[in-house]
This record gives sequence, structure tokens and C-alpha cells, in this order.
Amino acid sequence: MGRVAYVNGQYVPHSHAAVHIEDRGYQFSDGVYEVCEVWKGQIVDQTAHLDRLDRSLRELQIASPMSRGALSQVMKEVISLNRVKNGLIYMQVTRGVAPRDHYFPPAGTPVSLVMTAKSVSSSKTDHIAAKGVGVITVEENRWDRVDIKTVGLLPNVLAKQKAKEAGAREAWFVDKNGLITEGGSTNAWIILKDGTLVTRPANHGILKGITRGVVLKLAEMKGFTVEERGFSLGEAQNAQEVFLTSASGLVMPVVKINECILGDGTPGPMVQDLRKSFHDAAELIKL
Ligand code: PDD
Repeated sequence: MGRVAYVNGQYVPHSHAAVHIEDRGYQFSDGVYEVCEVWKGQIVDQTAHLDRLDRSLRELQIASPMSRGALSQVMKEVISLNRVKNGLIYMQVTRGVAPRDHYFPPAGTPVSLVMTAKSVSSSKTDHIAAKGVGVITVEENRWDRVDIKTVGLLPNVLAKQKAKEAGAREAWFVDKNGLITEGGSTNAWIILKDGTLVTRPANHGILKGITRGVVLKLAEMKGFTVEERGFSLGEAQNAQEVFLTSASGLVMPVVKINECILGDGTPGPMVQDLRKSFHDAAELIKL
């Protein structure tokens, strides 16, 4: 059997999975999403991801598609139907299908829920991490509610494409004060020469990454000093080590920012260690 997607109550072949053209996610980006890692047949940080999904839905006044228990069941089913042992699960909730009109649809309009899962070879991601990645900087041009994980990702798409065309993997947004907010799909970190970990506080200007939360916990376990504050491009280019965090890339070393090669151009030992021990601090739920 090929890949299977969950679409509004049904498990359907991935190649035929579709939503209506008047789904509000399609027409207005009126929806939210989550991406969770599947690692060795376990769902990573499910509780935190579903808590954030609830928050995103609440902030946009979109109803929850189903109870948490039911959602967990669908997640398990999608993972097992796709035989994913290592990979990613994607879920998206939109305000549902209704004749195109900016106002919210009538109360009681069912929300849409779509879920997919795919295998990702961990050796491929590990290979990228072993070399480290490049980052470029772009001007922050997103709305000020990037704390909500909406499917409205056009600035992120454009920024990441620009990075790709420049031979880099990620684009960092820089705010009007000259401080890095975050990447197009990752949170940003630096390690200072004295070993202090620095990352922007998650109160404004960034998505509060679940991986970021786990790395904060891991850093505490390992006795790092952590400063939650903004940092500039110059500070990052002079840092001892630099990295990105996300559910899809976990702890990803950065070796180049714009034209500046960091250190000897290879991932440093602290970042490599954080990457290796990441799952020690994560929540792991067996399927
Ligand atoms: N991206 N910042 C942005 C803008 C993101 O899109 C993401 C996640 C993160 C990291 O969050 P987390 O650690 O919870 O994955 C930060 C997902 C993986 C994506 O869009 O594919």
C-alpha cells in the first residue's frame, strides 16, 4: 500500500487526497499547523505540539477539530498506515469550507483537519548536520503574530527560496533593531566564547519552538548558562558556535552566515553534543 493521508474523517490515498477549493486554508491561509518528529517509532514532544496547536486555534478563534485523545489516535493511525519509523507528521486545521467571504463562516461550520506522515532518512539529516549549514539574513517583513503557527508562510517561503538560491539552507529575519528574530522555519541560537547559550525570548517576534524548549531543558541538564535575549548579526558572526532548532532538523549546526565562515567552517563540539543528546530531554511516546 502507498502513502495514506487523513482528510476530514477519512484515510485516503495520498495521491488523491484533496480539500475543497473553498477551504479557507486554501483561500485565506485561515488555518494553523504542527509538525512533529517521529523517532525510532515514537512521537517526539506530542504534548507540547498539541498544546501549541490548541493555543494557535484559540488565538484565531478556530474550533478544535476533535478531542486530544481522538487526535492522538489519528496521529498514531497515520504514522502506522505510512509505516513511518523515523520521519515527520504534519497536521493542519483550517476554519473549514464556506463560500468565499472574509467574515468567519456561520457558527457550526466544521473545521478541516488534514494529516500526513512521511519517512525521512535520519542518515540524510545527520549528513547535513555533520557538514553544517549556511544562513543568509533578510529584513523582517512578517506580521507581528508570528507566535501563532499559521499556514500563512509566504514571507518564510520567499526568504527560504532566497537562501537556497544563495547556496544556503536557512534565512534569518532581522528586525528593525538589527536583532535576529528567527529563521524561515527554525529558531536561532548562538554560543558565546564563554560558553553561554543565547536565544531570543519567545514572548514577541518568534514562534515558540518546541525543539527550542527541549534544548533549553537540555542546556539546563548540561549546566549551560542561558541568556534569553536578542542578538545581532555581528554577534552571531563572532560567536563560538551557532545553530538552528526545529522539529524537522533538530539541532542543526550553522557554519556560514552571509559571506562569513564561522571558525574553521565545521560544526563545533557543543552543538554536536546537543544534537546527539537531544532526545534525552524530549518527551517520547510509543506508538
Ligand atoms: N517549522 N520558527 C518557525 C518560523 C518555524 O516554522 C518553526 C518550525 C520553528 C521551530 O519550531 P519547532 O521547534 O516547534 O519545530 C521556528 C516547522 C518544522 C516547519 O514549518 O516545517
